[in-house]
Amino acid sequence: MKKEIWTLKNLPNLKSKTIVVTGANSGIGYEATKAFAMANAKVIMGCRSLERANEAKGKILQEFKDADIDIIILDLMDFSSIKKFTDEINEKYNKVDVLLNNAGIMIVPYGPTKDGFEKQIGVNHFGHFYLTMNLLKKLNNTLDSRIVNIASIAHRFGKLKPDSFLYGENKKYNKTYAYAQSKLANLLFTYGLKTRLEEKNSKIKVLAAHPGITRTNLGRHLKSLRTRPVTWIIELFNQATPQGALPGIRACIDPLVKSGEYYGPDGFFDIKGNPVVVKSTKRAHSIELQDTLWEYSVSLTKQDIDI
Ligand SMILES: NC(=O)c1ccc[n+]([C@@H]2O[C@H](COP(=O)([O-])OP(=O)(O)OC[C@H]3O[C@@H](n4cnc5c(N)ncnc54)[C@H](OP(=O)(O)O)[C@@H]3O)[C@@H](O)[C@H]2O)c1
Repeated sequence: MKKEIWTLKNLPNLKSKTIVVTGANSGIGYEATKAFAMANAKVIMGCRSLERANEAKGKILQEFKDADIDIIILDLMDFSSIKKFTDEINEKYNKVDVLLNNAGIMIVPYGPTKDGFEKQIGVNHFGHFYLTMNLLKKLNNTLDSRIVNIASIAHRFGKLKPDSFLYGENKKYNKTYAYAQSKLANLLFTYGLKTRLEEKNSKIKVLAAHPGITRTNLGRHLKSLRTRPVTWIIELFNQATPQGALPGIRACIDPLVKSGEYYGPDGFFDIKGNPVVVKSTKRAHSIELQDTLWEYSVSLTKQDIDI
C-alpha cells in the first residue's frame, strides 16, 4: 500500500477561519501559527510574554506580510489571566473555529501555580480545561469547530494521581512522572470531553495530537543528572520543528478528521514521520479515569460544560 504523506501542501485555504493557539510563540505552537497564517487564517496567539509573542509575530510577518495575527496575553498558571484571555476573545470575535491547546511545560522544578496546582498538571491540564470551558459556547456556536489538545508519547508512562494535583509542602515529587501524568490527562480530557459534548448533541470535534520527539525549547529544564537520560533521548532521536508540528496542524484543519482521533508521527515508536492517526494507551481510554479527572477538574476549577 502506498504510504500516506501529509504536508503543508495539504493545507486548504483557511480564509474566514479564526484559530486560537496557546503557547504560540515557540516550538510547535509557533510553527502551527505560521502555517495557519500562511493559509490566510486569522490566528490569535495566546502567549504569556508580550515581548516573545511580538518577536514571533514579527518573524512570521517577515515571511508572510499579510499574516492576520492578534496577540492576547495568556498565563496558564493563573485562572484570572485565562479568564481575561477568554473574555477578550468572546467579546472581540463572533466565532472560533479551532482551539489548539498546545502550550506546555516539561519536567520543571516542583512549584505551585497562582491557584495552588502543581505546575505541570496546572499548566498542561487544568489551565487548558479552564480555558476550554470558557470558550465552549463560542466554539459550539461556530459551524464545524474543533478543539485539539497536544499530548505526548510520555502519556504512556503516566498514571493519574489526584493527590498530586495540588501543590503541597514536603510532597514527594517525581517531575518526570508529573509530566507524564499531565500528558495522560490531555488524552483523558480529550476523550472525556468528546463523550460529554456528544451527549449534549454538540457538533464540536475534539481531537488530540502529539509531535513525537521534536526539537523545541521544551527541554530547557533538563539540566540535572537525573533528567540527563531524557536529554540524551531527545538529542539522539528528534525531528525538525516544522515536521513535529504537522500532527497538530492536521488535527486542526484536515476536513476528513473524526472526533476522538489522535494524530502523531507514523515512524518507530511514534518518534518521527508523517502525521497519521496513532494509538493511545488503554489507560487513556479508561472511562473510569476520564470520569475521575473530569470530576476533579470541575470541582477544582469551578468550570463545567455550559453550552
Ligand atoms: N517537543 C517535543 O518533543 C514534544 C513532545 C511531546 C509533546 N510535546 C508537547 O508540545 C507542546 C508544545 O511544546 P514545544 O515542544 O513546542 O515546547 P516549547 O518550544 O517550550 O513551547 C511551549 C510553549 O508553551 C508556552 N507556555 C509555557 N508555560 C506557559 C504558561 N504558563 N502560559 C502560557 N504559555 C505557556 C511557552 O511560552 P514561553 O516561550 O513564554 O515559555 C511556549 O510558547 C507541549 O504541550 C508539549 O508537552 C512536545
